[in-house]
Amino acid sequence: MTGTSEYARIDGEGISLVIAVDDRGVADLIYIGAKLAAAEDLATLTRSQQRGRHENQPDIPPVAGLLPESKFGYAGHSAVELRNGADRVQTDFRVTAVRTEGQRLSVTFDNAAPALRINLSWEIRTGPVLVTQLALENRSGHTLAIDRLVSIALPIPARFERLISYSGRWAGEMRESEDAVGPHGFAARSVGGRQGFGGGNWLIFVDAHDAGVLGAHLAWSGDFETFVDRDADGRATLLMSPRLDAGEITLAPGERFETPEGLVALGDDRSRLAQSFHDYARSDVLPGRTEWGPRKVHLNSWEALSFAMDEAKLMALADRAAELGVERFVLDDGWFGGRRNDRSSLGDWTVSPDVLPNGLDPLVAHIEELGMDFGLWVEPEMISADSDLYRAHPDWCLQIPGHEQREQRHQLVLDLTVPGVTDYLFSALDALLSAHRIAYLKWDHNRDLFPAANADGPVGYRQTQALYDLLERLRLAHPDIEIESCASGGGRIDYAILSRCNRIWASDNNDALERLRINRSWSQFLPLEVIGSHVGPSPNPITGRRLDMDFRAKVALFGHMGVEADPGAMDAHDREVLRAHIALYKHWRGLLHSGRLQRLNHQDPGISGLLVTDDQHGLALVAQSGFAESFGTTPIRFAGLDLDATYRVTLPEPWPRKASRYLADRQGWRDGRILSGQALRDNGLALPLTHPETAWLIAFERTHG
Ligand code: GLA
Repeated sequence: MTGTSEYARIDGEGISLVIAVDDRGVADLIYIGAKLAAAEDLATLTRSQQRGRHENQPDIPPVAGLLPESKFGYAGHSAVELRNGADRVQTDFRVTAVRTEGQRLSVTFDNAAPALRINLSWEIRTGPVLVTQLALENRSGHTLAIDRLVSIALPIPARFERLISYSGRWAGEMRESEDAVGPHGFAARSVGGRQGFGGGNWLIFVDAHDAGVLGAHLAWSGDFETFVDRDADGRATLLMSPRLDAGEITLAPGERFETPEGLVALGDDRSRLAQSFHDYARSDVLPGRTEWGPRKVHLNSWEALSFAMDEAKLMALADRAAELGVERFVLDDGWFGGRRNDRSSLGDWTVSPDVLPNGLDPLVAHIEELGMDFGLWVEPEMISADSDLYRAHPDWCLQIPGHEQREQRHQLVLDLTVPGVTDYLFSALDALLSAHRIAYLKWDHNRDLFPAANADGPVGYRQTQALYDLLERLRLAHPDIEIESCASGGGRIDYAILSRCNRIWASDNNDALERLRINRSWSQFLPLEVIGSHVGPSPNPITGRRLDMDFRAKVALFGHMGVEADPGAMDAHDREVLRAHIALYKHWRGLLHSGRLQRLNHQDPGISGLLVTDDQHGLALVAQSGFAESFGTTPIRFAGLDLDATYRVTLPEPWPRKASRYLADRQGWRDGRILSGQALRDNGLALPLTHPETAWLIAFERTHG
């Protein structure tokens, strides 16, 4: 940076962000991290980071800064890429104004020719989480196409040398990997019209000396594009943006385009980072969160009946669900049109007389008499070629005239940008919600968008916006409806969809071993009350694994619990174990769904744990997936409790059958052991965790201190 003309800082609870603007109009990040002293001298701070020029650099070394552009030798990706017809627009944005208002910082950049303005904002919100956004205004006389406009452009402080990223596939969401940021940086994108089952829309940068983490997320439910560009001098810059297909977004003279929001949070460790994301989600994202009642125990019909359903079977399943203590019965796929398998009827959102000859009402009444409420599966954005809707409107799906139409799961995608399509969907859903007492919709989305285009060109971005509008319109008309975002499991999960939904379907994979990992990954960013977490059948239909009911139920309890199996197919013992865990969930959900999450680690990579605390209580889930090396497993330690307080520690029953035989002094565990937070953190508890597929619940009740 050459001569600096201006500094600006915003501070929140425990966090500061400092930028500087040089005399050439380049804005750069000077500091992001724990709160700086009010007296910190920003000029000295800036100078302390400056490096001299080396021999093989442009005379004025380019700075990526807060708005990286491909100019003056900068080799990374540009935050803004525009075209005028076929010609790329070479931009040179310069800062013309910087403003701070409370916890919000805005920077205005102007480009002389063509005349363009960018407003960049960074705001500290609850968590603390930093929310950033860009808006581009076309002040020129030409229509311009936007090929890229990022939501986040952030120079990554050099201390963050490692990067945790996620990848995934159907039934295998959010697999974590950790790599060095250098030398190559990172790139990821999605192309299916949704982010997919884990990808570059969630990232964590890790301090080289374990002195903190920085998390980033793009709050956008369509395709994304992420780059971490690292230059030869070791500077890294993060860019996260919605992925735009060439020509979809154009700006006529006078028009303005605002990006979705990007999120950045910092924490001393991954638990603190999770707590920041959860605080923000709870206070600023989830719709009406403060009004939410207890998250009801679900039973979903999918794994129990699949398409083989009729009124009698559904009513009997509801009876068995109620006996377990289930509070919401969700009728999954198969209830509408002629849908007796997955080959037809998407779009025909009327109750099938073949399945329910008396309509929905007797079933809903039966469910309500049993003390449960009723939820319904829909997949509104889709259409089957074999449907009345398609026969009436073959032109309503995404397609490029003259190109072959390819299906996925025997279905096509509705073009939500065509006038009339979202009106039709609104009327169909509104009619269902108005005619029946439906408390909850499981909103599914089971295929990728190919093509994400119609006769006029690409529509992927506007398709996502049209979905948001539809969800908002429905919520306005039916303010009490709860909606779950499902996309063959966790294929469309982000803070923008969450601001219109109450729950996510974390994965189609209910195998508890897989879910331990998948739920742990999601809980890094999402609070447990939104993570749909169900007890599945054994053997599991996807993995073929057989797992003890005790293990399945304990894992499912740490989320928004449900059952995705037929209780009638379980033996009496399993039903009893499940019923007991549902009761435990009801007892503990108040804490699980409002407390602070702590990620517990252990030397044995097969052992993982989560602990949720408030000021009085704590509940932990600790699980062993493999066979431990030695019988005397190293004690599991509980960070996150108040070190000066003492706690009564118990192991809520039922206990895992085999492992509990190795429990020393069973009565001691029943009576409770009084231990300090300090001892629990440093010594921990020696629990029998030597056998595969064993889980314990550990309860902490503060006694004093
Ligand atoms: C998707 C969902 C499942 C189930 C089926 C029904 O795969 O993820 O949970 O609803 O669709 O077809």
